[in-house]
Amino acid sequence: MTDPAESYDATPFLPGRAGASLTALRRAAADCRGCPLHRDATQTVFGAGRADARVMLVGEQPGDQEDRQGHPFVGPAGHVLDRALAEAGIDPDLAYVTNAVKHFKFEQAARGKRRIHKAPDLRELTACRPWLAAELRAVDPELIVLLGATAGKALFGSSFRVTRQRGVLLPCPPLDGEGEERADRVVATIHPSAVLRADDRESVYAGLVSDLRVVAAALD
Ligand code: URA
Repeated sequence: MTDPAESYDATPFLPGRAGASLTALRRAAADCRGCPLHRDATQTVFGAGRADARVMLVGEQPGDQEDRQGHPFVGPAGHVLDRALAEAGIDPDLAYVTNAVKHFKFEQAARGKRRIHKAPDLRELTACRPWLAAELRAVDPELIVLLGATAGKALFGSSFRVTRQRGVLLPCPPLDGEGEERADRVVATIHPSAVLRADDRESVYAGLVSDLRVVAAALD
């Protein structure tokens, strides 16, 4: 049970300095206790990629493999993403990859050792947002790709619907009240794990690639 009076917020764990580097952010995030998810997770899974990446891809949260290895998108969903990026013509070296929530949320299977993914709730998403905002400020990518509903809600709020707003360039809302909206900067698409869950994998995958082609064209 969560204690409704307990406030979740990563802010006290961020480096005090404005404009902290990715290295400083990554180091600080390793000790984040801003919400209860750190208790059961193996480690913080911070973003990975170059500080001068032109595109930032934002997923939901680390999965089982990512939690064990400490890197985002190294499991099955990551393999789908890599293939789709290549097919859309996006060089993975141009990308910084991260998640809206930096700890794995799961429940233990009733039998066996399997850990079953649980979607983060709005409190956990909101608590973790300062890390995402700091990564966005540090990398300052030309384009942000939101992979799935959770990433969409992290940036645009809880009313965001990927199904309605995918595959088009959207303005980026100001981060934490800082700065101004930047036009034509965000593209939302489905989460790559949706391909793995779909009955019709081929057409769902084709939709992901088609949305990523919008990103590739905007980077040209
Ligand atoms: N799913 C995500 O959203 N992120 C990961 O890093 C892995 C799976």
